[in-house]
Amino acid sequence: MRSLQLVNTLTAGSLLAPTAWSAAVAVESNSPSCSDTPAYLEGFPHPNPTKSYWQDPPHRIANLRSTPDLPTEQVFDYVIIGSGVSGAATAFKLLSRDPDLSVLMLEARSAASGASGRNGGHCRTGDYQLVKEWVDLYGEDEALKVGKLEQDCVNDMREFVSKYNVSSGWRNVETADLYYTKEQFKKAAEVIEFQRELAQRRPDDVPQGNPRTVYSGQDARDYWQWPEIMGAVTYTGHTQNPYLTVCAMLELGLEKGLNLQTHTMALQLTQVSGPPDASTEWEVKTDRGTVKGTKVVLATNGFTPALHPGLASTHFLTPVRNQAAAVRPGADTAQNPVFKRSSTYSDQPMGGPGDYVTVRQPGDAGAGTVIYGGGQGLSPTREQNLTDDSVVNADIAAYLRGIGRLTYGHANWGDANAAESAAAAQHDWTGIVCHTPDGLPVVGAVPGEAGLWASVCMNGHGMAWAFRSAEALVEMMTTGEAPGWFPEPFRAGRAWEAKR
Ligand SMILES: Cc1cc2nc3c(=O)[nH]c(=O)nc-3n(C[C@H](O)[C@H](O)[C@H](O)COP(=O)(O)OP(=O)(O)OC[C@H]3O[C@@H](n4cnc5c(N)ncnc54)[C@H](O)[C@@H]3O)c2cc1C
Ligand SMILES: *[C@@H]1O[C@H](CO)[C@@H](O)[C@H](O)[C@H]1NC(C)=O
Ligand SMILES: *[C@@H]1O[C@H](CO)[C@@H](O)[C@H](O)[C@H]1NC(C)=O
Repeated sequence: MRSLQLVNTLTAGSLLAPTAWSAAVAVESNSPSCSDTPAYLEGFPHPNPTKSYWQDPPHRIANLRSTPDLPTEQVFDYVIIGSGVSGAATAFKLLSRDPDLSVLMLEARSAASGASGRNGGHCRTGDYQLVKEWVDLYGEDEALKVGKLEQDCVNDMREFVSKYNVSSGWRNVETADLYYTKEQFKKAAEVIEFQRELAQRRPDDVPQGNPRTVYSGQDARDYWQWPEIMGAVTYTGHTQNPYLTVCAMLELGLEKGLNLQTHTMALQLTQVSGPPDASTEWEVKTDRGTVKGTKVVLATNGFTPALHPGLASTHFLTPVRNQAAAVRPGADTAQNPVFKRSSTYSDQPMGGPGDYVTVRQPGDAGAGTVIYGGGQGLSPTREQNLTDDSVVNADIAAYLRGIGRLTYGHANWGDANAAESAAAAQHDWTGIVCHTPDGLPVVGAVPGEAGLWASVCMNGHGMAWAFRSAEALVEMMTTGEAPGWFPEPFRAGRAWEAKR
């Protein structure tokens, strides 16, 4: 293996200043202006993000620079911007196909410190519940490609973790979509019928191997043991420490020759030659110098509009800040089977849309801790157009810490959170995701800019979209053709076509 160098000092020293685990994080309203903090460029990754639950302790490659100096002389085959699951998977897949490729990765902060290192820990195929909408919008063939990609992507992640023996606490769990109103549940039950009809008629084209089970009314409450729900749809999902999975993906890339440069912000992209000259060349200006590549890959998620003004001008990509909290129920969860079903998603009327739970299981680090995500309904702007993940929203934090008692019920949760949680176990963090008007990722060639490619904007669902999107992107970049299974509705070009 190549020798790896860790960067311990930086000119902007506070980038690497450790945040005490239990320290209260800054809350938006009174965030202090501190002159030591490196300047925050609006829309770009914040230099001092909240520390997520998963990033303790930091991974051994967190601050890696494969070469101490930024390699400014070499023209790389690929320059990938972003070290989340999208960038990591792209690098890993490129180098797995052709180990002779030269691949440089730029990451503004520490490795996998974007949404991939700070999400809720779910990897599950929840979006297939939208299949009716997809059929109406795209027709049945494309709708099924979208649904199949989601399940295949989750399967690929599972196989990746298993094949490479990744120690990221991957678990197969029973997951559920839970419904709080009769109307919501009625709609969900109709979708299940629709999915079953599709499965009968087109067995080879639907997502396979993950049947849904429906529980209605009292059956749902008896089965799932959440006292307020009207219905549940259960199936197989997964929980993991996403930070460790993505860091493992990066390490496999590093073993194959990837050059990773953390704490290196891409600031500007310039095409220095292009068609009719087939060999395009791009320059990427960073805060440490300018690097060159034949192809450039944007894997920059919600920070993409800051780096690419053309894409920003389409208004197709909306950065959104998501928030999560790690809380400890007052009651002992280890003996309670309710906490084994550790992965749920629900439209809790107060905080929704889209609250979710993962539970740290016996044997996991932090066993018994419940991770609650969501609460965007508490924010008048739904946290749209925010790219600052150095602070948390206090109203959302209060909601996420308190909602467990209501959803699980006092009998399961206990009357209050565990006292110790106030000190050590309770933790809030934020991360930036990216939404499109149609809820689907943006993958492929950037129109009119030969050599520039993107796999961005996973709509808060990247653990189920990104690995397969990267596979499609790598196929497009290396062969010039999208694979037959790639859904047209994911095409990057649609951002420019949409009339807004
Ligand atoms: C709180 C929270 C909970 C979530 N829960 C779930 C969940 O349970 N299940 C699920 O499937 N998804 C979840 N998501 C969404 C999921 O994490 C993302 O969809 C996924 O991680 C996106 O991966 P990515 O690689 O595309 O982007 P990211 O992981 O965000 O990576 C982008 C990287 O690019 C870097 N970057 C950006 N701009 C620049 C630049 N100019 N120069 C250099 N580097 C740059 C960033 O620093 C970042 O590291 C959640 C997200 C959050 C924040
Ligand atoms: C998998 O990893 C664990 C520790 O992370 C190790 O004990 C085990 O031997 C590994 N197994 C294989 C097949 O590499
Ligand atoms: C976020 O920005 C988009 C334009 O890109 C705009 O349409 C939307 O209304 C904004 N949202 C909020 C809450 O300001």
